[in-house]
Amino acid sequence: MKITKALFAALLLASGLALSAAAAGAESAPAAAEPPPPPPALGTEYTEKGADTCLMCHTEAWAYPIFPIFKSKHAQRADARTPFAKFQCETCHGPGAKHAGSGDKNAINSFKPTSFLSPEERNKFCLECHRGNARTGWHASTHASNDLACTSCHKLHAERDPVLATATQPEVCYTCHRKQRADFAKPSTHPVRSGRITCSECHNPHGSNSEALLVKPTVNQTCFTCHAEKRGPFLWEHAPAAEDCTLCHTPHGSVYGTLLKRNPPLLCQQCHTVSGHPAVARTGAALPGGSAGASGFLLAGSCTNCHSQVHGSNHPSGVKLMR
Ligand code: HEC
Ligand code: HEC
Ligand code: HEC
Ligand code: HEC
Ligand code: HEC
Ligand code: HEC
Ligand code: HEC
Ligand code: HEC
Ligand code: HEC
Ligand code: HEC
Repeated sequence: MKITKALFAALLLASGLALSAAAAGAESAPAAAEPPPPPPALGTEYTEKGADTCLMCHTEAWAYPIFPIFKSKHAQRADARTPFAKFQCETCHGPGAKHAGSGDKNAINSFKPTSFLSPEERNKFCLECHRGNARTGWHASTHASNDLACTSCHKLHAERDPVLATATQPEVCYTCHRKQRADFAKPSTHPVRSGRITCSECHNPHGSNSEALLVKPTVNQTCFTCHAEKRGPFLWEHAPAAEDCTLCHTPHGSVYGTLLKRNPPLLCQQCHTVSGHPAVARTGAALPGGSAGASGFLLAGSCTNCHSQVHGSNHPSGVKLMR
């Protein structure tokens, strides 16, 4: 037994040594053989005939469909601001004479993740025309700092860009945001699955001045764009509702009803104790039909059976949020 163990250990050691020797060999061999290739670089010359030159090779038969772009806003030559009113394909893809002469894929901005250009360098071509409006905050956004490219979301060689339509946008976001896909499949959600509202009604994916890329400076202001009746002002405010809706609600989806983070009474008891309430015996006598008469404290819905105005009350005697 002892002998076999020792033999085994020796074998292991030997094979380990052999492996590391092989690895060292593999590392050093190519470095010695070839000088490093010159770094890829965009061309500097534009083609003379623009799109006509490109389309000689990039025909309808090209594996990637090029032609749908002619049905998009970018191909409106009558609009002087568009790429096709300028250097056509090369307004976006960069000076293309070098590529058109060689077919070298490293002499053109492909916008693809495999490109030799960094996302920032690729985005420059788009930001040339689109740096204003909603994209003013792009460089400071979470998406820019996580190295997203404009083309992580946008499809340009398409008649319709899926990320711009309410019904198809969520799928684009879910490719990276899987947790949100799961959230929007829960029993209580904002009606995103049914296509009634979409992510960009609450978020500006290009950047914003608030947390979580929200379209408005605060969570509550974002909610009020659609739930204006919750804005107040109320005669009797409920402090948490005035402060932050997400103290009780989750914005995407919940397993509890009404997008709540948890159900009352637990929801309420995170902040409130029972002090101030008359002492109620938690016995069967207080159940519906019991000898003491049904107690609201034991029924489903509990706190909100009595305190129904959890968002604030305008009733003169609504101080306890009961009417
Ligand atoms: C002489 C034929 C030819 C012409 C002209 C031509 N291309 Fe290409 N292009 C190719 C070939 C071949 C490839 C594939 C290269 C590869 O995959 O290695 C390609 C690939 C591309 C790619 C993808 C690069 C990548 O990383 O996969 C883009 C973008 C492109 N061409 C744009 C253009 C534009 C814009 C023009 C006009 C300025 C143009 N091409 C003109 C032959 C041509
Ligand atoms: C508005 C900017 C824009 C214009 C104009 C434009 N493209 Fe593109 N092109 C892109 C983007 C972005 C991609 C990356 C794929 C995508 O997101 O659709 C791309 C991808 C490509 C590819 C690579 C496809 C692949 O994956 O192999 C080729 C080839 C190409 N374009 C050729 C052309 C030609 C030819 C023209 C002119 C007729 C043109 N493009 C005009 C933005 C543009
Ligand atoms: C030469 C200027 C120019 C360049 C470069 C350019 N665009 Fe545009 N883009 C325009 C113009 C002009 C419109 C039409 C705006 C309008 O109708 O108000 C437009 C429209 C759009 C739209 C809205 C399309 C729609 O159907 O409503 C998107 C999205 C867009 N561009 C994204 C991009 C991206 C991404 C890039 C880089 C790959 C890019 N653009 C490059 C000028 C440009
Ligand atoms: C994370 C996904 C995402 C990225 C990355 C992204 N966009 Fe967008 N973009 C959208 C969505 C979603 C809309 C639709 C917004 C709406 O309907 O309010 C949009 C709309 C647009 C529009 C048309 C509407 C408008 O606001 O004028 C343009 C132009 C545009 N984007 C350009 C860009 C450019 C340029 C970049 C890169 C700097 C970029 N986008 C990066 C998701 C994205
Ligand atoms: C290519 C991947 C990708 C796509 C597509 C994408 N995102 Fe993101 N997003 C990220 C990354 C990476 C982060 C930062 C890390 C994180 O929070 O997961 C992020 C963060 C966010 C945040 C949180 C920002 C913050 O400051 O906390 C929001 C909100 C968001 N994305 C919304 C969207 C929306 C809406 C879309 C679709 C229009 C979208 N994203 C599409 C990759 C993506
Ligand atoms: C009704 C408004 C609303 C809609 C619609 C919405 N969100 Fe959000 N989202 C929010 C709010 C508010 C937050 C901040 C959450 C917080 O502070 O607890 C947030 C946070 C996020 C975050 C940051 C991480 C997190 O969960 O806190 C991501 C990523 C995100 N949303 C993606 C999406 C995507 C993708 C969609 C569409 C499929 C979407 N959101 C639709 C309101 C919304
Ligand atoms: C773009 C508009 C819009 C915004 C912004 C918005 N909501 Fe909604 N909200 C809706 C719609 C539409 C419904 C569904 C109403 C219906 O089904 O009748 C809804 C429903 C709800 C519900 C009830 C859900 C249920 O299951 O009954 C709650 C709670 C809610 N929203 C909270 C919020 C909060 C919190 C915010 C801010 C983070 C917010 N909403 C922002 C449009 C919006
Ligand atoms: C203290 C916890 C709490 C806070 C904070 C809160 N809610 Fe609610 N919300 C509830 C409860 C509990 C319900 C369910 C009421 C019921 O079932 O009778 C509800 C229901 C809703 C509903 C659906 C029913 C209705 O009344 O229209 C909407 C919409 C809503 N809340 C929006 C908001 C918005 C917007 C904010 C932020 C301004 C907010 N809520 C803050 C606890 C809260
Ligand atoms: C995030 C903490 C928080 C949650 C959750 C919360 N509340 Fe409150 N609530 C407060 C604060 C803070 C006040 C103000 C207390 C004060 O002014 O003394 C308050 C006030 C009240 C009042 C009025 C008290 C008075 O003396 O006027 C009632 C009633 C009330 N809450 C009921 C509820 C109910 C019912 C729920 C569950 C649906 C709930 N609260 C959830 C923090 C919370
Ligand atoms: C059967 C009806 C009923 C139910 C159920 C109920 N309350 Fe009350 N609550 C009252 C009444 C009535 C008052 C006013 C008592 C007073 O003025 O002395 C009150 C007062 C309060 C106050 C203010 C305390 C104070 O000192 O004035 C808070 C906070 C409160 N309730 C929270 C809750 C919470 C949290 C729940 C759920 C666990 C709940 N209530 C369930 C009837 C109810």
